Amino acid sequence: MRDFTLETFFSKWEFAARYHMTASDMQSMSVSELLALADQDDREAFDKLHLGYTETWGAPDLRAEIAKTYDRAEPDDILCFAGAEEGIYIAMKVLLEPDDHAIVVVPNYQAAETLPLSICAVSGVPLDAGDNWSLDIAAVRAAIRPNTRLISINFPNNPTGAVLERSRFDALVALCREHGIWLFSDEVYRGVEREESLRLPQVGDVYERGLSLNVMSKAYGLPGLRIGWIMTRDREIRSRMERYKHYLSICNSAPSERLSLIALKARDKILARNRVLLAENALKLGNFFAEFPDLFDWRQPEGGCVGYPRYKGPGSTDDFCEKLVSESGVLLLPPHIYHSELLPTPSDRFRVGFGRANIDEGLSAFRAWLRRNG
Ligand SMILES: Cc1ncc(COP(=O)(O)O)c(C=O)c1O
Repeated sequence: MRDFTLETFFSKWEFAARYHMTASDMQSMSVSELLALADQDDREAFDKLHLGYTETWGAPDLRAEIAKTYDRAEPDDILCFAGAEEGIYIAMKVLLEPDDHAIVVVPNYQAAETLPLSICAVSGVPLDAGDNWSLDIAAVRAAIRPNTRLISINFPNNPTGAVLERSRFDALVALCREHGIWLFSDEVYRGVEREESLRLPQVGDVYERGLSLNVMSKAYGLPGLRIGWIMTRDREIRSRMERYKHYLSICNSAPSERLSLIALKARDKILARNRVLLAENALKLGNFFAEFPDLFDWRQPEGGCVGYPRYKGPGSTDDFCEKLVSESGVLLLPPHIYHSELLPTPSDRFRVGFGRANIDEGLSAFRAWLRRNG
């Protein structure tokens, strides 16, 4: 597999740059802030926690709480992982064989294409910049081959922030059902849409061959817990994924399971807080880009906490991002990070994040640099 470009870039810059203006997660919190949201019993369970191995599937009470975030899930429909990433890895390894074909949206979070590409033939279908980064379901239909086994989507999307219209989502599910294709849906940004009316159903709720991926990392802002999960009603696939996990993380971190349970019980509060922060930050970011109409095209995306503005200034967008971070400490994701082996991706767009609390400092440094270099 080729290097995971985004992660290798972050290995260099994520903790070195002064202003992380491209984070893909919501503002996090401390253990004590999270524990303050716990009831007496959960607090005590955390304090007295025994640090032994845990159940490979995930703690039963955690799976039960996760199941409540779906319309139609039983605790048994949930398998927990070490973050979303392990879930993507295992699902692809279990679902795909060398003679299969998979379809993936582009641009994407690189694991979504690199992992299937390491196993079988893969086609990209583009999200259309001219149509609000939406997905043309006719293009998906045209990409289907007799051996297509899996379609992989991610809405709200990283990096575009697009959310598929409900009618197209329904059409995609119907298309998968018609052909018996597995639909892998990365839903890690679900819950922080711009408006609640944009929120899509979870694929595992509406499709018997659907796999819904979610995690504590993004909308909940708790990536350090490394707790993710897949919900699917297919017992055989769940069981194969569980057996694959024996070769990777084996089981989840016991303290993380307790803390995730506390966070999920307080999910309404946490998500409401995060949506307020996101709306405030989106306003600030919109005002910032409006100060430089000759340099940027920007519109707030439908969901998630990242967006994909266009850079219209002099020089390449990769050079612009590189110079910006080395001279001002403001970190953005340059376009080469989203290079795809399947389809061309824009060379004039960068990823910006707006889910963190300290956006003012980053925007000030960004503004000062632009004025100095204007
Ligand atoms: C769309 C998407 N899926 C999955 C992941 C991986 O999440 P985690 O860090 O929880 O493994 C990310 C992280 O950036 C992401 O953006």
